[in-house]
Amino acid sequence: MKKLFIETYGCQMNFADSEVVASILKEMYSLTKDIQEADLILINTCSIRDKAEQRIHKRLRELEAYKRKKRTLQVGLLGCMAERMKEELLQTEPVLDFIAGPDAYRSLPQLIADSQHGHTSFNVLLSKEETYDNIMPVRYDANGVSAFVSIMRGCNNFCSYCVVPYTRGRERSRSPKTILGEIEDLLKDNYKEVTLLGQNVNSYYWKEEGQEVSFAKLMAMVAEMSPDLRVRFATSHPKDLSDELIETIARYDNICKCIHLPVQSGSDEMLQKMRRVYTRESYLERVRKIKEMLPNCAITTDIIVGFSGETIDNHHDTLSIMREVGYEYAYMFKYSERGGTLASKQYPDDIPDEEKTRRLEEVIALQGELSMASNLRDVGKTFRVLVEGASKRSDDQLFGRNSQNKVIIFPRENHQIGDYVDVTVTECTPATLLANS
Ligand code: 5AD
Ligand code: SF4
Repeated sequence: MKKLFIETYGCQMNFADSEVVASILKEMYSLTKDIQEADLILINTCSIRDKAEQRIHKRLRELEAYKRKKRTLQVGLLGCMAERMKEELLQTEPVLDFIAGPDAYRSLPQLIADSQHGHTSFNVLLSKEETYDNIMPVRYDANGVSAFVSIMRGCNNFCSYCVVPYTRGRERSRSPKTILGEIEDLLKDNYKEVTLLGQNVNSYYWKEEGQEVSFAKLMAMVAEMSPDLRVRFATSHPKDLSDELIETIARYDNICKCIHLPVQSGSDEMLQKMRRVYTRESYLERVRKIKEMLPNCAITTDIIVGFSGETIDNHHDTLSIMREVGYEYAYMFKYSERGGTLASKQYPDDIPDEEKTRRLEEVIALQGELSMASNLRDVGKTFRVLVEGASKRSDDQLFGRNSQNKVIIFPRENHQIGDYVDVTVTECTPATLLANS
């Protein structure tokens, strides 16, 4: 059988999509981890920031060398860049034999066949329905303990800076029946943790034969499948993080106490321009509700610095909301203008790059302090950890995560990957907790 090598960039959704792609092609190709022996290389791409795209252009230069060595090698580009740049990519990147957008993966066998006849081929049609519902992903890179399950696709929010609604199309949910079926299979294979994935999981919605399923209800259904299965989810939009969901997280021990709640900015002026449809105060009201109902819950976030017109005062509002919430962790970015978005049409990208860098450094330094303070509060506490593997530093140490999604390192003793172990934290760094079992 021919050999397939897949390389994935970007978000967890993309990693989940690559598993769907591997499944669609499993009759034609076996997967390889060695790029040298590949007959087909697929690059699953991300467009979220310019830097992500530049990295992929650079990677395509490198792939040209592989193609010179092996004339029969085919290279295909998948994902958000395929959608954003469409056929133009085939002209500017001659190394590519075909491109396929995020909703076009079922047509990959056809695209591959067409391109073998010397044509370049593409399919970047977006769909209102495609959820790859009946495809059981091939978990080719998983640790056997923890898996991603995609529950919805696309995004209807149109935040003014974001390219995702254009690259991934409209929001659509997958049927609860196939989601539960996929998780049932994972349980049979001894998986212990699932992360339910979507661009905006809170707006998950399914209606069939008069039965309505909200995201909170779906979470409860998954949590009830087995008390030994941990359930996580990503990502939530603050505007529709419902009380019902917070109550559901509180009700089930096996729903992890960690909520990723991207704030983007602490300034009302910026939030309005970003079209986030919440205010600083209404965001903080959600945070208060989480802290009241889930006292041990970690809250993590995404932050963009240097959006159009961001003043020093606006920037200080971001620093102050970070302190007020006390995030456990944050993904922090400089604003990167994306063609086609509302912001690119209406608002100038007017904060100089050096100033964006300076603000980003301030945000990163503050988050370092907040993460360290949060970790110090954990010293002396006991947590249940799901073991994921050997620690990078030493084979005598294992690592796993607690419910709050913090990485904890502890002595191996007789514990196995996939076990739940109670450990007591003895020391910490800003990124890791060290413990005894
Ligand atoms: N520039 C910088 N960061 C962005 N994000 C989304 N679009 C942009 C952009 N144009 C960030 C947001 C989002 C995360 C996935 O990426 O913080 O939550
Ligand atoms: Fe990147 Fe967004 Fe596409 Fe994910 S959905 S791959 S983060 S552009």
